[in-house]
Amino acid sequence: MSSLVWVELDADSPDHNLREIRRSNDFQGLHCAVVKSNAYGHGVREMVSLLTGADWLAVNSLDEGLELRVAGERRPVLLLGHVPLNRLDEARRADLRLIICNFETLQAIRELPVSDKKFFLHMKVETGTWRQGILPDDAVLMAREIAETQAAVLDGIYTHFANIEDTLSHQYAEMQLETFQGVLDVLRQEGLTPPIIHTACTAAAILFSKTHFSMIRTGIGLYGLWPSRETKLSAESTGCRMPDLRPVLSWKTKIVQIKKVTAGSYIGYGGTHRTTRDSEIAVLPVGYADGYRRSLGNTGWVLIAGRRASILGRVCMNLCMVDVTDIQGTNLEDEVVLLGRSGSEEITAEMLGQWMGTINYEVVTGISSLLPRKVMKGAEGVY
Ligand SMILES: Cc1ncc(COP(=O)(O)O)c(C=O)c1O
Repeated sequence: MSSLVWVELDADSPDHNLREIRRSNDFQGLHCAVVKSNAYGHGVREMVSLLTGADWLAVNSLDEGLELRVAGERRPVLLLGHVPLNRLDEARRADLRLIICNFETLQAIRELPVSDKKFFLHMKVETGTWRQGILPDDAVLMAREIAETQAAVLDGIYTHFANIEDTLSHQYAEMQLETFQGVLDVLRQEGLTPPIIHTACTAAAILFSKTHFSMIRTGIGLYGLWPSRETKLSAESTGCRMPDLRPVLSWKTKIVQIKKVTAGSYIGYGGTHRTTRDSEIAVLPVGYADGYRRSLGNTGWVLIAGRRASILGRVCMNLCMVDVTDIQGTNLEDEVVLLGRSGSEEITAEMLGQWMGTINYEVVTGISSLLPRKVMKGAEGVY
């Protein structure tokens, strides 16, 4: 590995996490791995090859779905985002399953030339998240119209919880589930129930077996991260088996310069840090262009040989500086851990999130897709 900034993925953790999520509530059905946005920043090609236990995959855009097919992925792939009406046929040709939540998309499907391939549609029901989703009152009409459309099959129905991660009170999720159940009841009476029903993201899958239906649709837990502290606390109090989630990703770089700085020097753009003693600083070739956010300036720290080194001054686009005055024997090109373990120290995605003023999801998803991903078995690189 000759790169100066890279991401390491632990080869065994994704499937381990998948098994742990299933075990927490004895789930036996289909497991859809949400690998959108470059598998939450982990590297989509690597993650789908490591997630051998996933039955389905979900991504956001048509282009992400096509990329999986080009990579040779044969599992069912669900596109969670809107597919442009003039590209619907590309999705059908690539056997990508679509969500449907508006009548315009169904009309566009009806207007396409007949083909021996059908559109496999998953109707998304609005139950209180107020983003994509068809209103419950329109869902039955939509299901009837899909049933009358030769080119389409209602393959699934689903919804997404708005407030299940950030809270210890799950009344809102209960209300959403009730609304969804109401739609299911009407569909059942009309004989329109599709084969696949899914609502559960990671928090729901771990906390409530009644959200499981026939498929769960988990993202963050597969990457070994808890959706939130509240989810962990809720899990501890619900009596589910606590899943042992193992972070998949480490993020590393190397020192590219070490220099002595006299007391009273201003470090970096804007002179936002002034040294109070004669210091030694290490320059790191990572910055906000890599997803190492500017808000880490004068706030975060990194790990070098199991010791903490604080970030001095602002994080630049491609560089930042850390204080190594108290770390003996640092050398050019020594390894630096931005996220992950070093000796007995660890920087977690949650810690980085706190320093950046965001959540673990955004920390890992923000890691630049341009950085190489390296799959590891223990300390050894596999590929
Ligand atoms: C529609 C949908 N389903 C499932 C997920 C997975 O959620 P989580 O990562 O919390 O498991 C997401 C994530 O954003 C989503 O948008």
